[in-house]
Amino acid sequence: MSLKAHILLGAPGSGKGTQAKRLVETFSLTHLSTGDILRDAVSKGTEIGLRAKAIMAEGKLVDDDTVNGLVFARLLDETSDVLFDGYPRTLQQAQALEDFLSSKGLELGSVVLVDVPQEVLEARVVGRRLCSNNACGAIYHLESKPPKQAGVCDLCGSPLKHRSDDTAEAFRSRMGEFNSTFQPLLGFYKHRPTFRSVDGNRAPELVFESLRHVFGERA
Ligand code: AP5
Repeated sequence: MSLKAHILLGAPGSGKGTQAKRLVETFSLTHLSTGDILRDAVSKGTEIGLRAKAIMAEGKLVDDDTVNGLVFARLLDETSDVLFDGYPRTLQQAQALEDFLSSKGLELGSVVLVDVPQEVLEARVVGRRLCSNNACGAIYHLESKPPKQAGVCDLCGSPLKHRSDDTAEAFRSRMGEFNSTFQPLLGFYKHRPTFRSVDGNRAPELVFESLRHVFGERA
């Protein structure tokens, strides 16, 4: 059976990362978050990281060729089905992924939009806190999902951090990028038989139940 690439689409703060963590455990997928891959490059000070750092802090998109290159290198090494979170983000990325998958005999799996109204997203992003231990990467929110002890991860005890692009100003820039790229991307996928949309403006457990149902059809 050929390897499948599943995709979670959604605006900044729509809950892609939160849901991806549970989906990859439930369906034994590899989680490929381009945001995480780029942040890792920034923290290691690689050539790509040095270029991406300021772009990401401003809430702009890293160029398509750089992101596609990182993704394709990871796909070549993969032996499990993958779940993309934050990729593809532009029509060019979607087309390049399609070409790459067909050239390697790989298959597009579920493409699922986590749909959340714009007005709730800023508060989600600004209040987000993350475990600083990348191997854990637990996601919290100061109001809706606070850690038991302030500033400390419940799961591994590491300090929590605030992403540099989780400010109100950077969020608005990220939303601007999302709004200018999303409609063509949606147009590329929405008539595919494996496309679904789920209401992401519900409790995380309810969103997960919907996603589990969708992925259960195909994963
Ligand atoms: P990336 O890391 O992909 O960020 P993003 O897409 O903006 O998404 P977020 O991580 O902000 O949100 P999320 O949907 O994962 O939400 P989460 O689950 O954490 O990208 C960062 C940057 O990298 C980009 O700006 C760009 O510069 C670059 N980049 C990345 N990919 C790229 C690409 N393909 N091309 C070019 N550049 C790229 O949840 C958010 C908060 O809400 C949390 O606090 C959580 O607890 C809470 N929450 C989650 N679900 C719920 C719920 N159902 N109800 C209430 N609260 C909830």
